[in-house]
Amino acid sequence: MKNVYIMDHPLIKHKISMLRDKNTGTNEFRKLVEEIGILMGYEALRDLPTEEVEIETPIETCKTPMISGKKLAVIPVLRAGLGMVNSILTLVPSAKVGHVGLYRDPVTHEPHEYYCKLPESIDERISVIVDPMLATGGSAEAAIDFVKKQGGKNIKFMCIIAAPEGLKRLHEAHPDVQIYCGSLDRELNENAYICPGLGDAGDRIFGTK
Ligand code: PRP
Ligand code: URA
Repeated sequence: MKNVYIMDHPLIKHKISMLRDKNTGTNEFRKLVEEIGILMGYEALRDLPTEEVEIETPIETCKTPMISGKKLAVIPVLRAGLGMVNSILTLVPSAKVGHVGLYRDPVTHEPHEYYCKLPESIDERISVIVDPMLATGGSAEAAIDFVKKQGGKNIKFMCIIAAPEGLKRLHEAHPDVQIYCGSLDRELNENAYICPGLGDAGDRIFGTK
């Protein structure tokens, strides 16, 4: 599928296996989410635009590439996406941070919006939307709808685990968006949880039930 990238790196695979383990506690889980986000961000930001700028080295003046354009926006889907914000900020410390607050209704599994705020001039920025889980795809689709309504054009979506159902839905709804997945899992269960998955990402990151 064009614009869909499934990660294939032993470090990402190893860390995702540790995340899946139900005995991995909150502190370690949070650290792993951040580390996986950094490894995935390195890949997802491979096509950032650069421009040649003049720099004086201790030896001579040279033209050398630096990231160009308006600062990028990292946009977590609350809550669980917060766990991946520092991953992108580690790579691009000057990035702006927007928020899209959505929760999934436990019965209908439909996303509900409760708080959204994006950096200004979103139409001129690369937006990196982050959420560890892509299950039915409803939340990711709604988050991207929102960013596009605010003018966002150049959008990437990063998740750690995707279900085939959600990936298909998201790609069909937003074929222009580059989707990066740490792992493509088997399927959704009757409660729309990803199998084998890792359980409820938000609860495991924040230590709630
Ligand atoms: C989780 C997850 C995604 C969403 C994925 O969030 O972080 O946002 O579910 O499911 P979907 O693809 O079926 O929409 P949740 O709604 O549980 O909220 P939380 O992050 O606050 O725990
Ligand atoms: N949200 C999660 O946190 N986990 C799932 O498996 C599905 C949705």
